[in-house]
Amino acid sequence: MRDLLVSGGDFRALEDRSVNIPGDKSISHRVLLLAAILPGPTRINGLNEGGAVQALKPALQTLGVRLEEKDGALTVTPPAGGLRPEGVYRFNLGSSSTAARLLLGLLSGLGIPAVIDGDASLRARPMDWVVTPLRQLGANLKYLGIPGRVPVLIENGRLRPGQVRLEVVSAQASSAILFGAFAAGQEVEISLVAPSRDHTTRLLRHLGVKVEETRESIKIVDVNYPPLPEYQVPGDPSAAAFLAGACVCQGGPAKLTVEQVCLNPTRLGFFELLGECGVAIDYADIAERYGEPVGNLRVGGFPPGVRPFHVDQVGRTHAMIDEIPLAAALATLIPGTSSISQAGELAFKETDRLQSTRNMLRAFGAEVEATPDSLQVRGGLPLKAGVVPSFGDHRLAMAAAALACALPGRTRILGGECYQTSFPEFSEKMRYLGFGVHLSEGAAG
Ligand code: S3P
Repeated sequence: MRDLLVSGGDFRALEDRSVNIPGDKSISHRVLLLAAILPGPTRINGLNEGGAVQALKPALQTLGVRLEEKDGALTVTPPAGGLRPEGVYRFNLGSSSTAARLLLGLLSGLGIPAVIDGDASLRARPMDWVVTPLRQLGANLKYLGIPGRVPVLIENGRLRPGQVRLEVVSAQASSAILFGAFAAGQEVEISLVAPSRDHTTRLLRHLGVKVEETRESIKIVDVNYPPLPEYQVPGDPSAAAFLAGACVCQGGPAKLTVEQVCLNPTRLGFFELLGECGVAIDYADIAERYGEPVGNLRVGGFPPGVRPFHVDQVGRTHAMIDEIPLAAALATLIPGTSSISQAGELAFKETDRLQSTRNMLRAFGAEVEATPDSLQVRGGLPLKAGVVPSFGDHRLAMAAAALACALPGRTRILGGECYQTSFPEFSEKMRYLGFGVHLSEGAAG
């Protein structure tokens, strides 16, 4: 992995700018997997090119799905007669927990024997959130290594209809069960502690599947398999957040417009938070596309007198779950103490993100405390450019880069190339916006 080098402090956005961003990572995972089981080909435009989504492709090809790239679109054609592999394959989903959990749900629903596995970081992440409810619905799943972790063996047996309760707030977990239910053609009801991002139910509804949803439950009924000939993935609001975050720190009246962003309310927590701090935020030209609200997002800079923030409700935390390292980075520039609580699930991301965010920000000289479920940041103190860790976590690398752009001097973000997991165009887009962000010399490892 190469480092990310940032020359900061010499940027002033004098003019308004516009930028486009990659397709949403969560939606890309979902549409790619669904296309593999729907009848007929699906042409997907704007699929996220990051490592996490790409990790699904070899698995689908092994299952007999044809993937053809042409004119920037990917056409996904399932094998005639559906997915029926000749052997029991081991799928390595790298570090992508979304890919691993959703594929586990889908193959359990179809009763296709396989082993779901990943790299060392994925092997450290909890799978029981998905395995336990799938087993309650009749899936035959076995841990082959450490209990609760991949590798997991799926044995014969299809899902049956039923009800399950999810004890964690996780869109990956609820979606894995929904994928299983959909693939099995069974009615399943999931009761929830709190809602999280709802892309799966929006996509299923767009297909014509009947889904009943409240804040406490999701029920999939009347399952059918209509074709989805075309899909346009909207821009990733999490990717937008890192570009916006870098611009916001510069202050001033210039506005950044991010075009064609998914404006699903379950994803906008970071932007809502900026609005509460006094940053000008608006959403324009909103239209519903394939069941998702999509539009242009406009973000201003930190105003004079920007206010510290407190996020303490689980729904709000989840609406910005991937942007918490970035929010904490911005908080270091806001005079006063900001806090984020109810964020215990960050312990189970690519890194233990509360601890790793604290350590990354401390490397800039920031005053940050972390508990098992919260972060407190004392902002407005002097910070310094220097050498900071990313811990191989893409959200940390991009949060560090956004902050480093505001600090005079050169920052080296160790292993910062990991931004390619979700946003391979990140450093190019940052340069396009006028920031000094480059990868270090040397071969990518
Ligand atoms: C995702 C859900 C979130 C998020 C992750 C992608 C998804 O995780 O952090 O990057 O695609 O469903 P949770 O499972 O904690 O909601």
